Amino acid sequence: MSRPLLVDTHLYYYYSHKGYMCCLFLCTIMSSVIHSEEKRIWVLNTRKMSYAIGVAEDSSLLNLYWGSKLDDPRYYVPPEIASFVPFESPIGRSNEEYPAWGGIRYAEPCLKAEFHDGVRDCLLQFESYAEDNAHGGHHLALNLKDPFYRLRVKLHYEIFDEYDLIRRWAEVINDATDPMKLEQSLSAIWYLPRGRDWRLTHLAGRWGGETRIEQEVLAPGKKVIESRRGNTSHQANPFFLVDKGGANQSTGEVWFGCIAWSGSWKIVAEQTPYEQLRVAGGINDFDFSWHMAPGEKFVTPRFLGGYSESGFGSASRELHRFQRDKVLPKGFARQLRPILYNSWEATGFNVDEKGQMKLANIAASLGVELFVVDDGWFKGRENDQAGLGDWVEDPKKFPSGFKPLIDHVNSLGMMFGLWVEPEMVNPNSGLYKMHPDWVYHFPTRPRSEMRNQLILNICEGRAREYVFKSLDRLLTENNIQFIKWDMNRHFSEPGWPQAPRENQREIWVRHVEAVYEIVDRLRSRHPDVLFECCSGGGGRIDLGAMERFDQFWTSDNTDAFDRLFIQEGFSLAYAPKTMVAWVTDSPNWLTNRSIPLEYRFHVAMMGTLGIGGDLTKWNERDMEVAKRLVSIYKRIQPIVQEGDLYRLLSPRQGDVSAVEYVTNDAREAVLFVFTHLQRFRTPPPRIRLAGLTPEWRYSINSTEPGIYGKALMGHGITPKLASSSLDRSMTGDLQSTLYHLVKTQ
Ligand code: DGJ
Repeated sequence: MSRPLLVDTHLYYYYSHKGYMCCLFLCTIMSSVIHSEEKRIWVLNTRKMSYAIGVAEDSSLLNLYWGSKLDDPRYYVPPEIASFVPFESPIGRSNEEYPAWGGIRYAEPCLKAEFHDGVRDCLLQFESYAEDNAHGGHHLALNLKDPFYRLRVKLHYEIFDEYDLIRRWAEVINDATDPMKLEQSLSAIWYLPRGRDWRLTHLAGRWGGETRIEQEVLAPGKKVIESRRGNTSHQANPFFLVDKGGANQSTGEVWFGCIAWSGSWKIVAEQTPYEQLRVAGGINDFDFSWHMAPGEKFVTPRFLGGYSESGFGSASRELHRFQRDKVLPKGFARQLRPILYNSWEATGFNVDEKGQMKLANIAASLGVELFVVDDGWFKGRENDQAGLGDWVEDPKKFPSGFKPLIDHVNSLGMMFGLWVEPEMVNPNSGLYKMHPDWVYHFPTRPRSEMRNQLILNICEGRAREYVFKSLDRLLTENNIQFIKWDMNRHFSEPGWPQAPRENQREIWVRHVEAVYEIVDRLRSRHPDVLFECCSGGGGRIDLGAMERFDQFWTSDNTDAFDRLFIQEGFSLAYAPKTMVAWVTDSPNWLTNRSIPLEYRFHVAMMGTLGIGGDLTKWNERDMEVAKRLVSIYKRIQPIVQEGDLYRLLSPRQGDVSAVEYVTNDAREAVLFVFTHLQRFRTPPPRIRLAGLTPEWRYSINSTEPGIYGKALMGHGITPKLASSSLDRSMTGDLQSTLYHLVKTQ
């Protein structure tokens, strides 16, 4: 066994019912990992969670436990392979930590490979381990190898003690002198405590209706949530949460995870006949294969997993804190996101210097901090049928380039931002005419268009360089401080005819890596530029994107009522400061629903506030309301963007919904309340707040004297909404209110 790095080896004492006694086995301890050499067990500990792994006699690596804190190897019996049962696989019933397909195994594997001689049977046995602090959290690596072929797998575990999270990934290494083929290589598999009737919570939807919360009880068999579309997708999101059905926002055990990957992915929740619940996930193996030359390694995306005994709310808050502290790009991670204006819903493709200046004047008068020109600014872009790929200012729309507009925007005290869609090309563009072979395609098949566009094959160096240089030029020549990076179609005909046959199915991974690489290079050359990730709204929301993009465009659906549902699901997994929400015009362009302006603002103020309406049409009252609410947002911005979020009432469960944000020191909070349908004389519910300090008093919207936190959390408040009032101005559906609470003493 190799020597662990930086490990303090000593005799470990523990308490037994007979008093303190010397442990019979030698343990190594390094902050969050406790290792028993004798039992061959590692226990990974955070504040409130433990995760245990052990080596069985036949050198299989087995998972022993994941759940509430059981932090010592003495709590675990030495790992054993399950007994024989007719027609079953003993190893399959044994919670293998990284199952490779081979031998008697029928459940979802993490690894499937073919060796150079055609053998498709893998066997992974424990070889060695090492610990260090190299990756930002405490890190354990467990090395496995095939006893015959020179295939090695390194399993990585980063332990984030103060967040109750573990981040896992795998590295597959071909040490042989022959190539081999990877057909599946997931990031990790998680085992839940043995039992049935697990409830899965996940995020699903469609364009205009992303990240909606779905729940179902898992029956025997597999429940697969996935994207085969080449990006994260609107339809499903790489996040899962499971509980025994009894958890709610503040109580009950929950286990959850997120994959950091912006391409095709899958999560397989498999309930076996022997009451195992296995949740495996990573890059989708559909149409995937990876040619591994001798000496090459394949590194999977990282799969973050967590556990909480305090329900959904605490799971979300840990994820949010972790994302703000450890995931978001460092430059802006702790900075507040600016209030932006985006012209898309106002002008569509009719973008020009004069019109944008006019909008900029009004936006600045409202208190907007960042002015963004969306689609329509580049050569030939009169509509969605042309221009993608030709990333130069349209001389008809911007005769002197961007300079006059940017100078104007800057002179109004705002930053300037620009929309791009770098991975795409319209067949009707200069780029496509010059390089029709630069798109994914199969030579004998049609090139299916979506929104009249094809996808650039940025696995190829020339196309990738073209994209990088086009964006680099824009950022170098202009004072652009914000980029909205869009992607408006999913993959089809994913052919890469220029590549050797054995590499062609790698595009699913290489494309995503190329996007990451371009953004990373741009960020390092232009560190003061903020990046927003968009894919026709929320089609690319995941932790891989969050490592390089500072925020997400949540959905093209800006109907504030629909947004309550989309934003609720978003907040389950992702931090509110990354959730961009615009106030747009009424009736809404998608739903034709009319919603009061205050309500539209209140909904958008629950994330990073944006305005996206046609300001030239807003009347005096609209302007007055908007100015007032923008200035209120500026006061509550740190609470919403950096605070702890509590989902108090779900829009899925009644006519009133409520969300609260509390600063980390609990000195301030903000509560948003929304009614959907008014029911005559039905009193609104009392809303019990959360996260306050019981013995402190809080003023509500500057009213003195304050109310004790204990009372606000125990007894709650009755929101002032339509049905609570006889005041005719308060009647009607879709009412909203906002309370700002401040500690008074
Ligand atoms: C889709 C985005 O989600 C919209 O906000 C807008 O940028 C359009 N694309 C522009 O084509």
